[in-house]
Amino acid sequence: MKRLQLAVIGSGKGSNFASILQAIGSGQLAADVRLVAADKPDAGILDLARSAGVETHLIDEPRFKTKLSPGTEAILAERMRAADVDLIVLAGYMRVVKSPLLDAFPKRIINIHPSLLPAFRGLTAWQQALDAGVKEAGCTVHWVDAGVDTGELLAQSYVPVLPDDTAASLHARIQVAEHALYPRILQTLAEEWVS
Ligand code: GRF
Repeated sequence: MKRLQLAVIGSGKGSNFASILQAIGSGQLAADVRLVAADKPDAGILDLARSAGVETHLIDEPRFKTKLSPGTEAILAERMRAADVDLIVLAGYMRVVKSPLLDAFPKRIINIHPSLLPAFRGLTAWQQALDAGVKEAGCTVHWVDAGVDTGELLAQSYVPVLPDDTAASLHARIQVAEHALYPRILQTLAEEWVS
């Protein structure tokens, strides 16, 4: 049976990537990770990929911090194309995706965001939730479009905001929800893709 072929792009520690690897390892997710890309040489996600024997790509962007220059993104798109992936999974990637990557993978890039979108787009969404005094927070898996956390929603998971929550405790609770939701939605896509 065909398995979903994935590439993962991140900037940080890679706990979502680790949850994806774990789901693959336990047979809950019928997928293979063919490539992991990151825009920081010391990103934990690259170490995780190397330990798992997954090919890595370091994105070298000296000019911008919140996006890639078209040339750098074209190199990344070419690596993704060469890896022959069905889907690109953003997992803590801290830059906006633009063309040519978006054009090369139309409706084939997904992201997980630590809020109940459309609430609290952008950075430190858990802090935005605390500041707004909401009683419920959570995470959202969505398709990626040219905006910042604006693409079509695929699924959400809710967590409570507790009276004594700090930014760190709320973020940690949201991340537990992320680690369950992301592999589950990927498996749903895998079943649709290969059928
Ligand atoms: C997650 O909270 C995710 O929602 C956000 O960035 C964080 C990535 O964490 N987009 P990790 O690198 O997967 O641990």
